[in-house]
Amino acid sequence: MATLLKERSDWHGRRLGKKLRVGQKNLLENLLPHFKITPLNPDPHFETTMSESPQQVWLEIGFGGGEHLAALARAHPQIGFIGCEPFINGVAKLLTSIQTYNLKNIRIYDNDARPLLDVMNSQSIDRAFVLFSDPWPKKRHHKRRFIIEENLNRLARILKDEAELRFASDHYGFVSWALEQLVGHSAFAWNARSFRDWRNPPQDWVTTRYEEKALARQEHPAYLLFKRLARDV
Ligand SMILES: C[S@@+](CC[C@H](N)C(=O)[O-])C[C@H]1O[C@@H](n2cnc3c(N)ncnc32)[C@H](O)[C@@H]1O
Repeated sequence: MATLLKERSDWHGRRLGKKLRVGQKNLLENLLPHFKITPLNPDPHFETTMSESPQQVWLEIGFGGGEHLAALARAHPQIGFIGCEPFINGVAKLLTSIQTYNLKNIRIYDNDARPLLDVMNSQSIDRAFVLFSDPWPKKRHHKRRFIIEENLNRLARILKDEAELRFASDHYGFVSWALEQLVGHSAFAWNARSFRDWRNPPQDWVTTRYEEKALARQEHPAYLLFKRLARDV
């Protein structure tokens, strides 16, 4: 657990919440190694657990308890999923879903996504999700937000041409910030035409835990869908 909790000095979230139950510790020790990828060993090798190579690979950054990731993995067994989450209790929760539903198409990086993104193959991701990412509301903390130029450069490198980046948040200060960063980035385009395109989730949307919490508070999230523009040939 000591190495598990080794932190990057510039990451500000928490790694551990409530004390882990024995069953969760067992999953982290015994199940996680079968699904884990790291920056030193970033190849997901989906073929070791899936019967065929995945048709596409989708990436979720900050999956929390993995509710959204596990639901997508169940709905799309032919797609390979990579999830990054430094919060160990959340990782343990996702492992519980992997065990319960016998999911074969997920790989986990149990830490800050950035070093992994830096070593992933370029143009290897078909869809990425950054959902209800920490809004860091205080102005002096804005640079901690995940949607900043250096992370968009990372995403732009690994996303395929025409790949979709899905962002959602109930924090409208962060939504405006994200929109500004993404619209101002040369690799991304936002094709929303009307209010309905960002006020409502797309048809195939799967809810997240933080989204449910926001809806329960009567706070309506914004759903922003960006396209990774085709590279010049
Ligand atoms: C507010 S929670 C939302 C969780 C989930 N997406 C949901 O909607 O229920 C944001 C999550 O992003 C994770 N996170 C923050 N920075 C991250 C990073 N650099 N890499 C990966 N995950 C990160 C946090 O640990 C936290 O679990």
